[in-house]
Amino acid sequence: MELLKCDRVSKVYGSGQNQVTALDRIDLSVNRGEFVAITGASGSGKSTLLHILGTVDKPTEGKVTVEGVDLASLNQTQSAIFRRRKAGLVYQFYNLIPTLTVKKNILMPLLLDKKKADEEYFTHLVNSLGLADKLEELPHRLSGGQQQRTAIARALIYRPALLLADEPTGNLDQKNAREIVELLKLSNRNLGQTILLITHDEKIALEADRVVTLEDGRIVRDQEFRKNGR
Ligand SMILES: Nc1ncnc2c1ncn2[C@@H]1O[C@H](COP(=O)(O)OP(=O)(O)O)[C@@H](O)[C@H]1O
Ligand SMILES: [Mg+2]
Repeated sequence: MELLKCDRVSKVYGSGQNQVTALDRIDLSVNRGEFVAITGASGSGKSTLLHILGTVDKPTEGKVTVEGVDLASLNQTQSAIFRRRKAGLVYQFYNLIPTLTVKKNILMPLLLDKKKADEEYFTHLVNSLGLADKLEELPHRLSGGQQQRTAIARALIYRPALLLADEPTGNLDQKNAREIVELLKLSNRNLGQTILLITHDEKIALEADRVVTLEDGRIVRDQEFRKNGR
């Protein structure tokens, strides 16, 4: 079932002499449960695409639909709600709130909605991410890998339709990077989590079911692996 669709999505930054076409008529369809890696050289438009899918940015032209909703139809409040509930974002530099415990950081999207966590799911999440004994710590007491796992738990707490991760392993050593990728794979396999993972690491990209390659804002390759292999 189609979850996400980009229809001739373009993004132009600046104007006149300074114009940069970051995305050039992107067509992309992602089904529920897919694990897609997005690769490409620096400047090829990867982050721009992810920001548009996460309603952090808007396309200059074209249409994006998620679960049948045209993202352009969302007002500011609706976009904020979409980001909180539907699109879990994970960045290279974790973006945790330094003054809040790991537990509060993870629960933040729910707290903002004055909602309670599903205890069973919360426990499952922190156990599978190896954070159970870190819940009362502040982020700075954690290793980089643990901080990134906290950010992933926060992104997953709402069971979002989409997990959008922009170079989540970019700041980690190889061992921690591998662990993060394994965790993403597990959440894809076990929870059916749809994942879009930006990486310029070819080995990591090959862990996904599908690899989409961008070049100068265009999709130049879209390869599928292991389509029925789960
Ligand atoms: N806010 C911005 N203002 C102007 N140009 C931008 C902005 N964000 C990105 N760009 C440009 O758009 C292009 C694509 O950038 P980006 O999506 O960040 O690529 P990637 O994530 O693949 O490195 C680059 O040429 C970049 O310089
Ligand atoms: Mg980028």
